[in-house]
Amino acid sequence: MTSASPLRIGVLGAAAIARNFIAGVAPSKTVKVVAVASRERAKAEAFAKETGLAQAFGSYDAMLADPAIDAVYNPLPNTLHAHWSIRAAEAGKHVLCEKPLATTEADAIAMFAAARKHKIHLVEAYPYRAQPQTRKLAELVAANAIGKIQLIRSSFGVQFTDPTNIRLKPDVGGGALFDAGSYAVSLVRLVAGRRPVRASAVAQWTATGVDNTVAATLEFDGGMMAQISCSFATGYHRHALISGDTGTIETTYLNHPPLGGPPVVRIKRGIMVGDPVETIEVAGTNGFLAEAESFRDLVLHGPSHWTGATPEESVDIAATLEAILASARSGKTVAVTPAP
Ligand SMILES: NC(=O)c1ccc[n+]([C@@H]2O[C@H](COP(=O)([O-])OP(=O)(O)OC[C@H]3O[C@@H](n4cnc5c(N)ncnc54)[C@H](OP(=O)(O)O)[C@@H]3O)[C@@H](O)[C@H]2O)c1
Repeated sequence: MTSASPLRIGVLGAAAIARNFIAGVAPSKTVKVVAVASRERAKAEAFAKETGLAQAFGSYDAMLADPAIDAVYNPLPNTLHAHWSIRAAEAGKHVLCEKPLATTEADAIAMFAAARKHKIHLVEAYPYRAQPQTRKLAELVAANAIGKIQLIRSSFGVQFTDPTNIRLKPDVGGGALFDAGSYAVSLVRLVAGRRPVRASAVAQWTATGVDNTVAATLEFDGGMMAQISCSFATGYHRHALISGDTGTIETTYLNHPPLGGPPVVRIKRGIMVGDPVETIEVAGTNGFLAEAESFRDLVLHGPSHWTGATPEESVDIAATLEAILASARSGKTVAVTPAP
């Protein structure tokens, strides 16, 4: 691949989210989604026809063997992210892997080891990270705009009730925590800049045996705390409150711009109830498009061009999710493994 040619992406699995990804990336001049692979050839062909892709493969391995594919988008069920991202790395493909990158920290570490060994780039897909809204948040935190961060609250809830949905299946890594919760935890990791040292969580469980609602408290060295919540049983909500010792920031950390107005970040530069809240309007763009173009810049120009989670962040997110789930299952506070 050269700077004159677009990054050619193949999709692993005819996933529902891949349709949104393909539609979002379609206007790009620098990234082209060119193929889909399915476990069933007929499914791949129907998907390619519906989404306008040039090529359909009847197995994941067949697509990975094609030298015309530069990179893969991996939207497989969560427990398959590690196996197929590693297989893609072995085939020399760069990987944009759906969140959560992995269901265990050990898997995340193994995935990045494979990426290093085979000299490809592997990153975790969080479209909100490519949005100006999130970059403004990171810029404000880095500039100490609300002082020393003391408390982060991050929530994401949606509703899923169909038991055939992969999100409600324990054997493929279902559950609200790995789904919406990975977003909430990733936002905390972005703002905190490090992994927590302890997690204490409670959960309610579905009849299918996955976590339906989770609330967790995370303790960091230095005294900072965070609380995350996620759910498959609520109306849609997604927001975060970041509280420092001289002010507060609120954000909706959206993947895509909201309907009916620009995305905003709200900041109160003061500690009193009457201090004014400043609303900062930012640009918005399709998150899949921005993410995919940043991925292409990463492949072409290196990690400083990637707007998303770094490998270190993704390993920390995996370790944190693992500790939260262990705490919710055991009813005990769980120590998060120290960063490798
Ligand atoms: N970033 C976001 O905004 C966002 C949004 C939604 C989902 N996601 C992530 O994207 C991934 C896929 O979600 P989705 O809702 O698109 O899932 P989905 O529609 O169920 O698609 C998953 C695909 O994986 C393949 N697959 C391989 N083994 C499977 C198995 N044992 N059971 C089920 N499917 C299997 C299937 O493709 P073939 O049959 O064609 O092989 C299937 O179409 C998840 O990791 C999820 O967390 C991210």
